[in-house]
Amino acid sequence: MTELAQMLDDFQPSPIGEIFTLANQLKAQGQNILDLSIGEPDFLTPDHVKQAAISAIDENHTKYTIVEGSLKLRQAISNKFKRDNGLDFEPQQIIVDAGAKPLLMHAMQAMLNQDDEVIIPTPCWTSYAGMVKLCNAICRYVPCPEDKGFKLQAGDLEAAITANTRLILLNSPCNPTGAAYTHAEMKAITDVLVRYPDIWILADDIYEHITYDGFEFCTPAQVEPRLYDRTLTVNGVSKAYSMTGWRIGFAAGPQKLINGIIKILSQSSGNPCSISQAAAIAALEGPQQLLAERAEIFCQRRDFLATRLNTIAGLSCHKPEGAFYLYPSCAGLIGKTTPDGSKIKDSKDFVKYLLTSHGVAVVPGSAFEYDPYFRLSYATSMETLEQAAQRIETACKALFA
Ligand SMILES: Cc1ncc(COP(=O)(O)O)c(C=O)c1O
Repeated sequence: MTELAQMLDDFQPSPIGEIFTLANQLKAQGQNILDLSIGEPDFLTPDHVKQAAISAIDENHTKYTIVEGSLKLRQAISNKFKRDNGLDFEPQQIIVDAGAKPLLMHAMQAMLNQDDEVIIPTPCWTSYAGMVKLCNAICRYVPCPEDKGFKLQAGDLEAAITANTRLILLNSPCNPTGAAYTHAEMKAITDVLVRYPDIWILADDIYEHITYDGFEFCTPAQVEPRLYDRTLTVNGVSKAYSMTGWRIGFAAGPQKLINGIIKILSQSSGNPCSISQAAAIAALEGPQQLLAERAEIFCQRRDFLATRLNTIAGLSCHKPEGAFYLYPSCAGLIGKTTPDGSKIKDSKDFVKYLLTSHGVAVVPGSAFEYDPYFRLSYATSMETLEQAAQRIETACKALFA
């Protein structure tokens, strides 16, 4: 009999997909579902970006480009790193891929050997673990509790490092918590990493432009220039410019690493879509004012939803610095019984109850390796958030009846 690769026996698809599928089934049955499980901005791709893509088609930029992305795009990315992060990268130190997601995967393939350990602060984005497993490497989770703002502490990092540690993943602002590191907090982390020269640093900065209350974003290579030669700074246009469907991610780092990733791309995916590359140039070189305008709208939603959730018995919600997610604790609901008699044993049970009984889709903390919490995305209208908060309140109240 033909068999699948053994690796898949121990490989789980993204748990967010499970919620997505169930929510869609309920929608198809005619139920009114408020979806707060989505990880993409609800804004439209800006018009000037769409026009650039239309022009690229009209001008027949429809053929292969070089694998690492057109020089024009890499020059625009080089300018972006200088403008936003004060970092100097030559275009040849830059690589473009079909999203930050495949870029992270390809970067790990270029960095990791079998059984290497990867430090992942948790709560963490769902896809990191799968990528590490696809490289036959080992996840070394470091819990970052809520009372530390869900941020990695220098002492905990140091304690997690072993002779086999090859890579650390840093994601600020973070999916799912929204936690973002101040310069001083990042410096405490980079001060430890400076002392371990064999460790690569992967900075996932995809939510860079979504921060609030005057927060100043920073990234490891900028905070500690001595890490420049072993840091890959990953970013993209998906979240900042509402371009999730265009599939453009990019990264900059030391030449040796970039050359390694190019080798992998050249034998696997090839270049990212030529039309999307033209669109990304327009996004990066066009007006940047929309970033602050959109962040302001997200900020109003964060303030509303965090405040509202904190009035609900059984929930408590940390107010984060960035991204468009909240990560409330549902510890106060564990052990309660739903009106139809089932016990809420963990965040998964609560999320299922919320979706099937009250029509609100969110993601359980188990998807992010940190429980009992759940993730809500506020990348949706204020009206939807108000209705969702009302339904969540009703659902929680019913557990105390
Ligand atoms: C933390 C994090 N990194 C990377 C990505 C991937 O972004 P892209 O759309 O560029 O593949 C996401 C998307 O949800 C994310 O949340």
